[in-house]
Amino acid sequence: MLEISSVQAGYDRTTVLHGVTVSVPKDAVATVLGHNGAGKSTLLRVAMGLLKPKKGAVLLGGEDITRLAPHQRVARGMAYVPQGQQSFPHLTTAENLRLVADGRPDGKEATAEALDLFPVLRELSGRRAGLLSGGQRQQLAIARALITRPRLLLLDEPTEGIQPSVVAEIEETILALTRRGGLSVLLVEQHVGFAMRAAQQYYVLEAGRVTSSGEGGTGAEPTVRAALSV
Ligand SMILES: Nc1ncnc2c1ncn2[C@@H]1O[C@H](COP(=O)(O)OP(=O)(O)OP(=O)(O)O)[C@@H](O)[C@H]1O
Ligand SMILES: [Mg+2]
Repeated sequence: MLEISSVQAGYDRTTVLHGVTVSVPKDAVATVLGHNGAGKSTLLRVAMGLLKPKKGAVLLGGEDITRLAPHQRVARGMAYVPQGQQSFPHLTTAENLRLVADGRPDGKEATAEALDLFPVLRELSGRRAGLLSGGQRQQLAIARALITRPRLLLLDEPTEGIQPSVVAEIEETILALTRRGGLSVLLVEQHVGFAMRAAQQYYVLEAGRVTSSGEGGTGAEPTVRAALSV
């Protein structure tokens, strides 16, 4: 579904990613793990077109999208939930959802579907996003992304700073979504357990290089933990 190929990227004169290759199979979850500052968010920004790579390519379903703008990638079925659960804090939950849904022919239906996945958002529809808990804000951010009915979802640390019971809820939802088919996910995570349960493919990123990769699943968890402890 997504091929990030030999990507070199960074900011100004600093290179953050030194030839990174990551691929997300169709209808599967690939996860990128790594310490703070390893370049995980930078990789997602390259995938989404928010940062132009200095070298390398990004392919979506075989099409070279390296030079496409973010909105062109959205039109091709990509959605991105940045790190830190960004919604509009002064707008209510319902208004945040409507911002994405309005103007889409299937907006109402897609919103109802997203709310079925995160029922708690129905009860919070009148509350400002800025007053939601971290976990609720994360669910809102994922729901907003899902309203576009993506075939590829980029998730940047959806469980960061969230209490364990909500982590489990988010995990369940992501697994349910991918089991339903038609959705591939590139998941950046620091919770190794969750990432390895969710992913069919894993990549460990260290200082902008992939230092370990392989098939996901809990069986590979010790290998990943060892790679991360170096
Ligand atoms: N906008 C920016 N301008 C300059 N340098 C940046 C910018 N964003 C990130 N960096 C630097 O790039 C490197 C990689 O950052 P990145 O955010 O990709 O790491 P990360 O793996 O997502 O970390 P974390 O787990 O803390 O989110 C870091 O050294 C960071 O300081
Ligand atoms: Mg990050």
